[in-house]
Amino acid sequence: MSFFTTGMTSKEIRSKFLEFFQKRNHAVIASASLVPENDSGVLFNTAGMQPLIPYLLGKDHPDGKRLVNSQKCVRTQDILEVGDNTHDTFFEMLGNWSLGDYFKKEAIEWSYEFLTSKTEGLSLDPTRLYITCFEGDENAPRDTESQEIWQEIFTKNKINGERIYFRPAYKNWWSVGDNGPCGPDTEMFYDITGKLTSGMSLDEYLVADENQQVVEIWNDVFMQYLKKDGKVIGSLSQKNVDTGSGLERLVMVVQGKNNIFDTDLFSPIITELSSRYGKFDNERAKRIVADHVRTAVFMLSDGVTPSNTGRGYILRRLLRRAIFQAWKNSENFTELSSLCDTVIKIYDDVYQDLEKNGEKIREVFEKEESKFTKTIKQGEKEFEKMSDKDISGKNAFLLFSSYGFPFELIKELSEAKGFSVDEVGFKEEFKNHQDLSRKGSEQKFKAVLE
Ligand code: GLY
Repeated sequence: MSFFTTGMTSKEIRSKFLEFFQKRNHAVIASASLVPENDSGVLFNTAGMQPLIPYLLGKDHPDGKRLVNSQKCVRTQDILEVGDNTHDTFFEMLGNWSLGDYFKKEAIEWSYEFLTSKTEGLSLDPTRLYITCFEGDENAPRDTESQEIWQEIFTKNKINGERIYFRPAYKNWWSVGDNGPCGPDTEMFYDITGKLTSGMSLDEYLVADENQQVVEIWNDVFMQYLKKDGKVIGSLSQKNVDTGSGLERLVMVVQGKNNIFDTDLFSPIITELSSRYGKFDNERAKRIVADHVRTAVFMLSDGVTPSNTGRGYILRRLLRRAIFQAWKNSENFTELSSLCDTVIKIYDDVYQDLEKNGEKIREVFEKEESKFTKTIKQGEKEFEKMSDKDISGKNAFLLFSSYGFPFELIKELSEAKGFSVDEVGFKEEFKNHQDLSRKGSEQKFKAVLE
């Protein structure tokens, strides 16, 4: 890449963030488990705020009103996007928190300082920053206060301030789900091309965003409202700040890469895959394998085990997708479980639980892998017998029910060969089978289909 890089490692970036806020009187708190402690209605923590919701609502936190952390998160709703430049299923969210303490001015000034300071921060180029603020709607006014704070910062630093845009709620309003604390946010984007200039119109800026020339690296959410059943119903008892900076993307811009897989959070896994598996026909498949193995290791460490329902099913799906992609696309397929150690090593001194749970992680991974590899081999033979043409619903169901071949894999294999699968017919067969089945097995098949 053409632009300046600082050569900072991901470990240094994470530590720098925690230290920067610690110096500003924030208590460093450990990441909560990926598995939510209370019944929050989600299978995994998907954002830094989830474990802190009671404190955003006013409960006293034992460590005070200013906190800083790096929270482990899993989001699988974009699983099909994984393999592009920026999507992953596991990520760390760096966040500094004000629980009814400081508000917009400090939050924004510190965000800017951490991103750009050459001594205490990341030394990013401030002329590559672009900012969005909430444009206002029936729930909350236009956030001119944040815009003015940004404007002052740019003026003070002699930077052209024509780089701030107002955006609607679907972009600049943050909440998780339909209930709980929420509020408008201001978001920071970084020009990864080094070619954009201040003074772009909103339309020009939106094109740059659409073309991924700018990447969101941080948001400051001003959590002061309460949502119920999707509607804002009033103000919280206190005004909070919830900032979020996805570590993978932040590392990507600091290390001067144009995709997260080239950062040191992924490159050891990618390198290992290349050296052990030989040529991958499909670069994207290699990224999918690296992502899914990494996520699986973190889930296993937090006590999730593969199953056919709930979070165990998500884990099983990730493991199976990884194994399937490696098997289908690599020159020399061997078991993936040895990559667990590569992942664990990336996080030594950061998440010590990984090393502590290493044996268990490898054992469960290996067991699932050996079961699924047998399934693939057996299913493949049967698939080959019937795949000289489009696959009927009946045959797809036979592969699924008798050989345990997941439907999505039948579909992928057929598509790779240029054949189609009768999905409607498969679902009909499935339903007929369901009608005949007892309740227990219905549950099992339903989970596999979802
Ligand atoms: N600060 C909100 C989030 O991105 O998680």
